[in-house]
Amino acid sequence: MSDTPPKPDLLPAHVYAGRRDWHGYFDALAALPPRDTLLRALSFRGGSPGHALDVGCGDGRDTAHLASLGWTVLALDSSEEGLRRLHERLPAGLRPRVRTQCATFDRMALEPADLVCASFSLPFCEPAHFPGVWEGITSALRPGGFFAGQLFGDRDDWATLPDRTHHSPGAARALFRDFEVLFWQEEDRESRVDPARHPKHWHVYHIVARRQE
Ligand SMILES: C[S@@+](CC[C@H](N)C(=O)[O-])C[C@H]1O[C@@H](n2cnc3c(N)ncnc32)[C@H](O)[C@@H]1O
Repeated sequence: MSDTPPKPDLLPAHVYAGRRDWHGYFDALAALPPRDTLLRALSFRGGSPGHALDVGCGDGRDTAHLASLGWTVLALDSSEEGLRRLHERLPAGLRPRVRTQCATFDRMALEPADLVCASFSLPFCEPAHFPGVWEGITSALRPGGFFAGQLFGDRDDWATLPDRTHHSPGAARALFRDFEVLFWQEEDRESRVDPARHPKHWHVYHIVARRQE
């Protein structure tokens, strides 16, 4: 999300995400490749495809990639429009590998998985729900399973919004006490996309971690 140039006639994706305008967000970022954290997790893991949860899948850039590699995926999001676009982008031959669930984070019915992908989604969980949602994610991950995704830090511009979940560096690390952290990148900087008209300070942790056996 952070620094993808906007498409013509559209605002930078962060403007839409800031307003929870997911249609605008999907338009702004349509047809982009999978997230770097997912690619890193797949490269750390190796081996044959397994079963993944894509929590807050949006229009499915990560789910589509996983399915193309032979993974089965349960893709979850509260946006019906996102799930519709995910279905559309999947070639017919891959559709049997993907199930979808339209639900908010606190109502998602998760299931055992080898990988949980949560790209730029969990910060949009309401703070009161986050501990239960995180517990659900860690319980769903099989021992040795991988987490790939982002959390937002407490110096991010959106940390003052009451419906977002942000973590200090220490609090974010503490969530991974039962994991081996394989990749941790902290971004703490101004957006480079049209900063004069749409300034945004990013404080983001990019994370790949493996649940201990
Ligand atoms: C910034 S987008 C990321 C989408 C996708 N993972 C990606 O990397 O492009 C955040 C996603 O979280 C979903 N979302 C926001 N609030 C949610 C909630 N309370 N419950 C479930 N999904 C939510 C939105 O519908 C949106 O698809």
